[in-house]
Amino acid sequence: MSNIAKSAPGKIILFGEHAVVYGQPAIAVPVTQVQAKAIVRPDIKTKPGTIHIAAPQIDLNSPLADLPLDDALAQAVALTLEYLEIDKPPAFKLKISSTIPLAAGLGSGAAVSVAVIRAVGEFLGHVLDDETVNNMVYEVEKLHHGTPSGIDNTVVTYAQPVYFVRGQTIEIFSVPQSFTIVIGDTGVVSPTSITVGDVRSGWEAEPEKYDLLFDSIGELSQKARQAIELGETDVLGPLMDANHAHLVEMGVSSPELDNLVEAAWEAGALGAKLSGGGRGGNMIALVRPEDADRIAQALIDSGATNTIITRVS
Ligand code: PMV
Repeated sequence: MSNIAKSAPGKIILFGEHAVVYGQPAIAVPVTQVQAKAIVRPDIKTKPGTIHIAAPQIDLNSPLADLPLDDALAQAVALTLEYLEIDKPPAFKLKISSTIPLAAGLGSGAAVSVAVIRAVGEFLGHVLDDETVNNMVYEVEKLHHGTPSGIDNTVVTYAQPVYFVRGQTIEIFSVPQSFTIVIGDTGVVSPTSITVGDVRSGWEAEPEKYDLLFDSIGELSQKARQAIELGETDVLGPLMDANHAHLVEMGVSSPELDNLVEAAWEAGALGAKLSGGGRGGNMIALVRPEDADRIAQALIDSGATNTIITRVS
């Protein structure tokens, strides 16, 4: 038995976060510049069934059996063993590392789960198909935020642009003309469960207002998909701006996000918005390729703690 290493990319939501929880379409794309990685090594001297997990970045170094049942890593391994109907696997050590910032809307939790499930599956002799992996990662995502739409696990598992409607067949779509996105991190950690919960409270208090916002965002996602498929990527900028305005109205932006969105506009971005759960984490800006470095620097000058330039293709 040899070592198995598997990686999974980060992701950004281009359009439709939050509204996607309420059945509206959303668009997400992988970000391959950042990755989560899982390595499984056989532990031949130890008795079968013994699994050790190490994730130095989160100070985790523990036997699996000592982790709480609701631990996401333990859950990812347990689901894989359950699916493969393996009670006592050969002993192994699992090491996890990631360059995807945590709780920043870049899909770090989903990417770690994808890498772990694929690596453990393959170590046990099974190359798991995307659909199976996706379903398992969705179960783990529920631990991170109770009612996930499923968009994060889907885009990270398939590692391709997805047009996602909750409960419907996954649509992977083509990007005939690639475009450039600058991602700017506010450095503010913001758990998605909180903003998702707040949007739910807002919707319960003012259903008409929120339903209108969700509908408008859904229309923006539809228009954006058309524009992307037709290669009319310039149209995407104003659609992003409109999506951001709706998210502001929904109460999920923050001074830090608005500041970076404005900095991107001032530096000549074609459009900008927050991406993911909001109140912190990352924003994205659509830029001309030749402006990418300059706009990334403008974001840093305005307080971004990190930037990533990615090409969607
Ligand atoms: O995990 P994040 O922060 O990228 O947010 C996921 C997107 C939401 O629409 C806010 C939640 C969901 O489950 O779709």
